[in-house]
Amino acid sequence: MAKIPFTVSARAGKLLGRENFSNPEGAIIELVKNSYDADAKNCLIFFDIQSNDNSTNKKSLKREDTIYIIDNGEGMTEDVIKELWMKIGTGSKEKDYLSDEKRVKTGAKGIGRFALDRLGFTTDMWTTSKKVKSNIGSHWKMDWNQFDNSDKSIAEIKADLIQLEFNIKKQIKSIIKNDNVNEIIEKINFRSGTVLKISNLKDDWSDDGINNVYKSLEALIPPKEFKIPFDVTLIHLQQPKNFGSVETAFFNDYDYKVKAKYDSDTLTVDFEITRNELNHNKIKKNYEDLFNDAKKPYDLQTLNNRTFKYTKSIDKILKWNLEKNNIKLLNDVGSFELSFYYLKYSVSRKEGYPYKLINTKERRSVLDKFGGVKIYRDSFRVRPYGDPNNDWLRLGARVAQSPAGAGQRIGDWRVRPEQTAGMISISRKTNPFLKDKSDRGALQENESFEVFKKIIIGLIHEFEYDRSKILNVFYKHIKKEKEKAKEQEINERAKNWQMKLSRKGKI
Ligand SMILES: Nc1ncnc2c1ncn2[C@@H]1O[C@H](COP(=O)(O)OP(=O)(O)OP(=O)(O)O)[C@@H](O)[C@H]1O
Ligand SMILES: [Mg+2]
Repeated sequence: MAKIPFTVSARAGKLLGRENFSNPEGAIIELVKNSYDADAKNCLIFFDIQSNDNSTNKKSLKREDTIYIIDNGEGMTEDVIKELWMKIGTGSKEKDYLSDEKRVKTGAKGIGRFALDRLGFTTDMWTTSKKVKSNIGSHWKMDWNQFDNSDKSIAEIKADLIQLEFNIKKQIKSIIKNDNVNEIIEKINFRSGTVLKISNLKDDWSDDGINNVYKSLEALIPPKEFKIPFDVTLIHLQQPKNFGSVETAFFNDYDYKVKAKYDSDTLTVDFEITRNELNHNKIKKNYEDLFNDAKKPYDLQTLNNRTFKYTKSIDKILKWNLEKNNIKLLNDVGSFELSFYYLKYSVSRKEGYPYKLINTKERRSVLDKFGGVKIYRDSFRVRPYGDPNNDWLRLGARVAQSPAGAGQRIGDWRVRPEQTAGMISISRKTNPFLKDKSDRGALQENESFEVFKKIIIGLIHEFEYDRSKILNVFYKHIKKEKEKAKEQEINERAKNWQMKLSRKGKI
């Protein structure tokens, strides 16, 4: 009996590249993730697109169109290129999941770089590793056309690799001769790094197409809130003013901020709640007495401090019994963190609460751009959670079931999904059951995901309860004042009436 090996056709390579990325934006994100995993502080994407929809000699100009993706990450040694970069399905990140800078690497499958094949027929790569002298590097070149010859086996497909002496900044400047690029490169520190030049592009890059890349970067890269030093800049060489450093969600104007850390071992949640909704001068002037008998954290002192912390066990939050089965469900979800913001954009004067003034227009535009409760796994977004109109937590349905006003009855008010923003950080290491679907898109809708959603609703409800508890104090006071005023009015009217009658001599 002979042992016979499997062989792999070149066609299989084609499936990994071209067909794994449904759109070019997704392919670019994949390469940005590689820069992140390599501990880059900067990732630069340059589009050199001479051809556009209106040019008469579009075809010949298109041949010159190029995309560059450049980072100042750890780079690759010759060995890494040979052993990891050239090995399909390399599992190195699965094993070494933490980078030197303690980032949890987003890669795992060992196929991301086939995004290069999705974008263009030719790739040149220059890279210099932080582990070698900075003036030594490699130039790797690949003609992806080879994958189109389906008769070949994968071992017959070859790339060129040479070692050479170079300085990465000088190299970039000599490849891309552009003043704007020069200026940007000059400001960045490149001890090591990787330069990808993608040419013979497969797509026609219209202005809209590049705008889509910028938009998806905005939506997907780690938000500023995570405080990870990773800046992504996109430049269209023909339109230097249009793009730039990619802006991500950041909120400094909000009514409430909730930071919650769920610990799946101790089954507790650490909360840090910031109340930022009320006008404290008004409270001081008119309402201090209302808090005379208030207990912590609903007392005046805590209110004045704005931020307070507490820990609560998850069974109390969910109103669950901690029996064996439930404990397992709660353990399986894994620890995660939530930052949640509430920004109302309309205020009813009639209610009379001592709110701070808000800039309705600005809040609406911030929420349009960055609203929704989003999931980030190892710092990158998992779509579609929190996309516009994606109410995955079904917050809208909760409002419909419990339409009470905020101060009316304690605990009854429900937040509207369009007035929320949030970031949930999960990790493939701590939340192994919150898994990707096979298409690299959303999460699998398994039992852990259901419990995960329940926990998040529970965390959000802590804020809803707090807000209704605080506003209820004013609600009751305002109601009483209104009743008093009404009573007074009735008394007044009765008095007038009496006077009129007595004047007419009827009494
Ligand atoms: N910008 C980069 N800087 C340094 N090394 C890189 C870079 N891009 C890729 N590599 C190396 O090449 C390997 C292959 O990258 P690739 O994206 O194909 O797979 P992966 O990131 O390991 O997994 P995934 O398929 O999930 O992205 C990486 O494991 C890494 O060692
Ligand atoms: Mg990768």
